[in-house]
Amino acid sequence: ENAALLKAIIENAIDGIITIDDRGKIESINPAACKLFQRLPEEIIGANVAVLMPPPDRDLHDEYISRYRQTGVPHIIGIGREVKGLRKDGTIFPFRLGVSEVQYSGRKIYTGFIHDLTREKEAEETLKEYA
Ligand code: HEM
Repeated sequence: ENAALLKAIIENAIDGIITIDDRGKIESINPAACKLFQRLPEEIIGANVAVLMPPPDRDLHDEYISRYRQTGVPHIIGIGREVKGLRKDGTIFPFRLGVSEVQYSGRKIYTGFIHDLTREKEAEETLKEYA
């Protein structure tokens, strides 16, 4: 059945997938994202997505979302950006963030796609040393 297939795809995705409501509250997180951020679903669902990022974005993310709600001008939606994530142990990692806006049963949610860039960045640094 269709819903079960979608669930299996999300559960087994290589990239992290997180959904939030239009205020930034986490509604779902897949296993890949849990692993990247060192979190369990039960500790992170219901929290503000800002807890998954270091400052300054951590303190500004609510404003990013409310500004978008007011202006309709996206800075990441449909564009993507390289950003930093904060793991539970306090370490920071780079990833490529894609965000899409979804109209679902009469309300707006946002889906974030998280592609870890740790390996790529390390390779880049090593290459620079030899440049
Ligand atoms: C906007 C950072 C995760 C949803 C932004 C902006 C930044 C940012 C820098 C735009 C700032 C500007 O106006 O130029 C981050 C960081 C994250 C993160 C560092 C690390 C965890 C997420 C996730 C979602 C999300 C997982 C969705 C599930 C949004 C939305 C906006 C936004 C809806 C406003 C629309 C837009 O600007 O396109 N975020 N974000 N963010 N972010 Fe995040």
